[in-house]
Amino acid sequence: MGKIISIINQKGGVGKTTTAVNLSAYLADKGYKVLLIDTDSQGNATSGLSKKVKFRSDLYEVLLNDEIIENAIVKTDVRKLFLLPASIDLAGAEIEMVSLPRREFLLKEKLQSIKDDYDFILMDCPPSLGLMTLNTLVASEFVLIPIQAEFYALEGLSQLVKTIKSVTRRLNPSLDILGILLTMFDGRTNLSIQVAEEVKRYFGTKLFKTVIPRSIKLSEAPGFGESVLTYAPKSKGAEAYKKLCREVIKRG
Ligand SMILES: Nc1ncnc2c1ncn2[C@@H]1O[C@H](COP(=O)(O)OP(=O)(O)OP(=O)(O)O)[C@@H](O)[C@H]1O
Ligand SMILES: [Mg+2]
Repeated sequence: MGKIISIINQKGGVGKTTTAVNLSAYLADKGYKVLLIDTDSQGNATSGLSKKVKFRSDLYEVLLNDEIIENAIVKTDVRKLFLLPASIDLAGAEIEMVSLPRREFLLKEKLQSIKDDYDFILMDCPPSLGLMTLNTLVASEFVLIPIQAEFYALEGLSQLVKTIKSVTRRLNPSLDILGILLTMFDGRTNLSIQVAEEVKRYFGTKLFKTVIPRSIKLSEAPGFGESVLTYAPKSKGAEAYKKLCREVIKRG
């Protein structure tokens, strides 16, 4: 079966990686076998998930040097959670991909041999709508869009929705929006509440009921190469991602 979800927003710093890492960890904790694919050359999901893990290969090698995908996937400290890492090598990948045939389908084709081995495959996208992100959209069944509850949050969203619609029309008719997630929410500020209302008006029931609060533990955890599940399981950030995990399972 294998649900494939990309965590996407071309806006930087909205909580994509934090969501990808922690949602993956909670899905694995629930007993699902999960693969997290880091598709961002910043490699934040890779370093945030495990400092101790050594990897020989990465997504760049899989996409552009014919590395066998199974060989690039590594175990993490979380049981049932696996990682396909990214490194800075991926920064030049888009330029190399442009000239390849079926350039939007490279990732989808690489996933064919392993997608049935996992209950969930999550992809952490880079902050752009370039060819790498397009590859994740083509390979996915769902997108999850984190939106930061801040002033410029809605800027660029119409472009994102347009891109998703265009991919659905031209390249991947089975793509759907799984949900919109409000992140870094601060219920004490009018601004957060206003943004929440605006997002609700725009996306209606696509908005997840779960809202991720601003939580210092969420920002500290990656420094230790851990998800919040092991770093601070009782924190309010952890509680929120646990709740989101339940909602994702219901919707998926
Ligand atoms: N709920 C939260 N509470 C507090 N800090 C958070 C929260 N979510 C994310 N952060 C912090 O905000 C910063 C940006 O988050 P993150 O890296 O997840 O965003 P991103 O969308 O993946 O960024 P990029 O576009 O660069 O890939 C990080 O320092 C992260 O630790
Ligand atoms: Mg990121």
